Amino acid sequence: MTQIKGRAAVVTGGGSGIGMGIARELASEGASVAVADIKLENAQKVANAIEAAGGKAVAVHVDVCERSSIRKMKEEAEAALGPISLVFANAGATSFDALMDMSDDDVDWIVQVNLMGVINTSRAFLPDMIARGEGGHICATASMAGLAPSSIPVHVPYSAAKMGIIGFTRNLSCEMEQYGISTTVYCPGGVASGMKNHNSSYRPAKFGAAQEGPVKISGASYRRNSSKPTVFYTPDKIAPMVLLAVKHDRPFVFDHADDRARFREDYASVVEDCFDDIAAYERIFGIPEANPTGAELTETD
Ligand SMILES: NC(=O)c1ccc[n+]([C@@H]2O[C@H](COP(=O)([O-])OP(=O)(O)OC[C@H]3O[C@@H](n4cnc5c(N)ncnc54)[C@H](O)[C@@H]3O)[C@@H](O)[C@H]2O)c1
Repeated sequence: MTQIKGRAAVVTGGGSGIGMGIARELASEGASVAVADIKLENAQKVANAIEAAGGKAVAVHVDVCERSSIRKMKEEAEAALGPISLVFANAGATSFDALMDMSDDDVDWIVQVNLMGVINTSRAFLPDMIARGEGGHICATASMAGLAPSSIPVHVPYSAAKMGIIGFTRNLSCEMEQYGISTTVYCPGGVASGMKNHNSSYRPAKFGAAQEGPVKISGASYRRNSSKPTVFYTPDKIAPMVLLAVKHDRPFVFDHADDRARFREDYASVVEDCFDDIAAYERIFGIPEANPTGAELTETD
């Protein structure tokens, strides 16, 4: 079990949408919260609202694409709240462009903010969490686009980054178990947030100019394997679901019950097809010879 009450937490991307919902819920459950965002003014509004409701919060600037900025965020947050042991690596940005229409900067931004942002945020906090020996939790926000990537086309680098987060978080849990640090990966399936209207404005200057205005959603982007349009939930409704998973050290949390069928269909077909392929191979070539010593094969073997 992961305790929330009385602990200090950080939420990246806490100035809006899902991060804002999680930050508020953490505070209402008795954690103090560092609301960290590239848009400090939004983080400040969320921190003010938490304080006005009787909670404890501080707003901190961070660009999760920069390790030095993450380290500075940690220093500022811990100076205000004390040692942080609940880390919500949630900041992210999306893109709905076909891969061939994306510039190098477009691709680099999406991978840096989503994947490296989670890796670097976790790496900044973990050494002190381990040294204190009091356990803790890393909760990373991935996406259904990472878990079932073929269901949401026109998301190539985004899906890759989000699937990377799932691999990172699941593998990290093996390494952190000995320290009492658990992990959860949250895969949202559709939450009303700031992304639709403000996504392009999150872009750090080193990846090209930030822009205002709604994200361009390509007509080719739709949910495959689903006849129904996406239902969008609100951050305040999904945040308790995420925290429940964190408290129970659940490895995954999903928010859309109707994703079950899509997910089952995607993975069932992959699993069945792959094992059918092995069976077909064995019928043609026989069972592959085992190499009991594990020795490297040379060209003469
Ligand atoms: N909303 C959905 O349906 C949905 C679905 C799948 C995954 N997600 C993921 O959920 C997370 C939160 O997104 P959201 O939907 O709440 O959108 P949002 O736009 O409301 O929030 C994203 C927040 O991240 C911040 N941010 C962006 N780049 C940053 C950077 N470099 N450094 C620090 N902060 C940065 C933004 O300022 C913003 O406050 C993202 O990782 C997103 O990919 C959302």
